[in-house]
Amino acid sequence: MQTVRDVAALRAAMAGLRAGGRRVALVPTMGALHAGHMALVAEARRRADAVVVSIFVNPTQFGANEDLDRYPRREATDAAMLEAGGTALLWAPDAAAMYPAGFATSITVSGVTERWDGTSRPGHFAGVATVVCKLLNQVAPDVALFGEKDFQQLATIRRMVADLDLPVEIVGVPTQREDDGVALSSRNAYLTPDERAAARALPRALGEAAAAIARGQAAAEALALAERRLLEAGFATVDYIALVDAVTLEPRESAPGRLLVAARIGTTRLIDNLAVEPD
Ligand code: PAJ
Repeated sequence: MQTVRDVAALRAAMAGLRAGGRRVALVPTMGALHAGHMALVAEARRRADAVVVSIFVNPTQFGANEDLDRYPRREATDAAMLEAGGTALLWAPDAAAMYPAGFATSITVSGVTERWDGTSRPGHFAGVATVVCKLLNQVAPDVALFGEKDFQQLATIRRMVADLDLPVEIVGVPTQREDDGVALSSRNAYLTPDERAAARALPRALGEAAAAIARGQAAAEALALAERRLLEAGFATVDYIALVDAVTLEPRESAPGRLLVAARIGTTRLIDNLAVEPD
């Protein structure tokens, strides 16, 4: 596996990877890789001849009071995992390579970004859309893979790619979970053992609400119970819990749809989501 850190070196390496019409997949990440990221890499290998993974902790998608400074960084371990996973190229620019002096462009996706994490994290999705657009232009992959774990992010990227006619196929990969149902996340590392145990309530509450809504219970009722369960389990606050349309992310009152949740435990904010199909 080759590692490149500036756009000129990336372009040269990509010309080699694409030789003979080979299909290229891109998996964008912020590093601190876990089995969730590696599931994207494995799916990328199934869908392309060469896999490019980017690691870039994108400052523009972190709010002023968020965890940019303490976000875990361990590139050597990440590189070893990617190499073992069959990655051909690691694209690891620094902030100056991604945002040279004078950088002045931002991509705003309306609609899908206006609720949920868009409210809790102002500016976050503009930061994500802009950096993902840049990554797609830099690597020019045939296919790019994103986790359903960040469901609103995936919806935002699908909208942007459609609206800007970006010539890439976007693939969503199901959320990878620990044995107790907690979604794998780099932020789980912030949890104390007690908080980690309490975090199980998140997938459990989603599962119960999804089953109740699938049976025909009104979403408002099922969601109120789920919120109570989270607070009882030790979550400090629930930023939102909602049943939404899976494409527009507008609220819905009955199945089908997607349950979205963000809740804080201690100082850590966790998100999760689950599909709801009618019984
Ligand atoms: P990061 O949080 O590192 O996640 C990289 C990719 O891994 C995202 O597509 C995310 O949805 C996926 N992922 C994370 N945990 C997962 C899990 N448990 N199961 C399945 N997929 C999972 O998301 C970002 O980085 C950034 O916003 C990025 C898209 C790279 C733009 O900066």
